[in-house]
Amino acid sequence: MSSTNPKRITITAALPYTNGPVHIGHLAGVYVPADIYARYQRMVGKDVLFVCGSDEHGVPITLKAKKEGITPQQVVDKYHEIIKKSFSEFGISFDNYSRTSAKIHHETASEFFKKLHEDGKFTEQITEQLYDEEAGQFLADRFVVGTCPKCGYDESYGDQCENCGTSHNATDLINPKSAISGSKPVTKKTKHWFLPLDQYESWLKEWIVKGHKKDWKTNVYGQCKSWIDDGLRPRAVTRDLDWGIPVPAEGGEGKVLYVWFDAPIGYISSTREWAEREGKDWEPYWKDKDTKLLHFIGKDNIVFHCIIFPSMLKAEGSYILPDNVPANEFLNLEGNKISTSKNWAVWLHEYLQEFPGQQDVLRYVLTANAPESKDNDFTWADFQARNNNELVAIFGNFVNRVVVLTNKYYDGHVPKRGEFTQVDIDTLKELKAAPDVIASSIERYRFREAQGKLIDVARLGNKYLADEEPWKTIKTDEERTQTIMYVALQIASALSVLCEPFLPHTADRLKGILRFALNDTSWKDISEKEELLPGGHQIGPSELLFSKIEDEQIQEQLDKLEASKKANEIMNASAEPQKETITFEDFTKLDMRVGTIISAEKMPKTKKLLVLKVDTGIDTRTIVSGIAESFSAEEVVGKRVTVLVNLAPRPLRGVDSEGMILMTETPDGKLVFVNPDDDVPNGASIS
Ligand code: 2FM
Ligand code: ZN
Repeated sequence: MSSTNPKRITITAALPYTNGPVHIGHLAGVYVPADIYARYQRMVGKDVLFVCGSDEHGVPITLKAKKEGITPQQVVDKYHEIIKKSFSEFGISFDNYSRTSAKIHHETASEFFKKLHEDGKFTEQITEQLYDEEAGQFLADRFVVGTCPKCGYDESYGDQCENCGTSHNATDLINPKSAISGSKPVTKKTKHWFLPLDQYESWLKEWIVKGHKKDWKTNVYGQCKSWIDDGLRPRAVTRDLDWGIPVPAEGGEGKVLYVWFDAPIGYISSTREWAEREGKDWEPYWKDKDTKLLHFIGKDNIVFHCIIFPSMLKAEGSYILPDNVPANEFLNLEGNKISTSKNWAVWLHEYLQEFPGQQDVLRYVLTANAPESKDNDFTWADFQARNNNELVAIFGNFVNRVVVLTNKYYDGHVPKRGEFTQVDIDTLKELKAAPDVIASSIERYRFREAQGKLIDVARLGNKYLADEEPWKTIKTDEERTQTIMYVALQIASALSVLCEPFLPHTADRLKGILRFALNDTSWKDISEKEELLPGGHQIGPSELLFSKIEDEQIQEQLDKLEASKKANEIMNASAEPQKETITFEDFTKLDMRVGTIISAEKMPKTKKLLVLKVDTGIDTRTIVSGIAESFSAEEVVGKRVTVLVNLAPRPLRGVDSEGMILMTETPDGKLVFVNPDDDVPNGASIS
């Protein structure tokens, strides 16, 4: 394990699957925290390598390709570009973003497998696997759904249950069903290579349970311990699929490496790709004991990063192990689980179209609400409130006042300071303490707390201005005003440095406004330098860092979500079972005509009934219809309708109803007319 002051830090962020774009859940759970950490460590002068890439193998991609009638390569090519662009636009500062379909990754993963194979680290077993006879293929992982043997959830995937998080083998599922054809699978014999995790159990116990429990997050440690306590079993590292990295061993024809075997090796290939490009040596970042290795992931990836990948690295023998795996819980959206298939998400590429240039607002809100120790909820109301009440009213307001007043009083020049008062001394002391205060939270992976401390610096500035009131002293005491503005400018420039890990775009803009530049390792300068902006330094004109988000913008987002909800309800609405079969003669007895409602009035003392006069083409007749909860009398006049005209008249509340208007219902219970095209005349028969 590395020392507390390692020579270098290798930071990995979970490789996203390329079967869809990335959303706020990804950003909040993995990429923003990893980025804050990486940016901060660079600013304190650490040799940081921050890598990621697209996870392009695995069943979800094959399924998506089948659904869209394109090849898996076309699927990954499309989403790799979208995802990569989103990360770059949100300022996720990867040193390298690779992809697992890259040649270097195929080579790295193959070599890794071969080394373990040659060293006798795998066992080979012929086992019964699920097989779809209709589709003519084996069913692994997400190709199969069934009941989870642990929690009873009946839509568990073959490799993992999304309900309880348990990871299992497809053959463990109760009542398995093929996700390709829907058929019940049979079992068929096939050979696979297994990593005998049982042989690593005591080592894992020593390493995790005894070695790390104090500094790993409770959720991470707890999951690992429960896995180990349950007893580990050998895990197959190969699959009978045609999309993935071919198994480089005799008998491996037609088989590929399991996606969870190749994906984490993607961190290593991404490092190699970076090293080749930069002319560096990749190995110290993965093999030197003085390197701290960190995996930023979501909670569904814990077992793979804390048990399986470390066992693979241990089996290989020359690699270091992760020092920490700061996994986050999940982010929900407006009270519901984020879901790609239900389109219940805020997609990053769409957010940027709707809130152009406001990447940092989303970064800020996601960190303020980060699911660090429990699942959390993203709401648009909170997004608006945090922007308007914190970024605009605290951070932006402070900076704006300082810049506007400096321009107004001193033509944009930092004034020379006079004697400090006790308030100035105390304020500057608090400012100089801020880098350590924020750093201490970041070092402990408490990013929400860290960002809260950053906003405290802006609060300090606001309080200072409010108490010292330079707009009043300017009338009475020129020297005092100069000192106040000098101190306020030191706070503003410190903010431009301290906010960089959290709000990188804002940091750049603020530095631009202040015309302020420090060297790359600037974090400590806040505490150590006597002044950041010297008297006489010229700053630029004022420019708003943040702007208010209006209610209409929020309503648009809520409407969009509501539309997704409706679309899902319609898709999932189950049709009623078919009624008893009737003969053709039965059908021909029904006389249905096109008609027009010519007048309507509410039936007195009823909630549901409207009395309609309908032109049926044959005559004008009275029909009593139970539609008053969905329509007012006024809005139905003129509606084109379909009428069953030969229904025996029946009295309803004393009025004879001479037919029936055909209606149907939306999933949320709203009635709608079955209405014919406008150019069909009244009286036209429906058959
Ligand atoms: O859960 C996921 O989205 C996976 N694609 C994460 C892979 S992380 C790593 F091991 F590559
Ligand atoms: Zn389960």
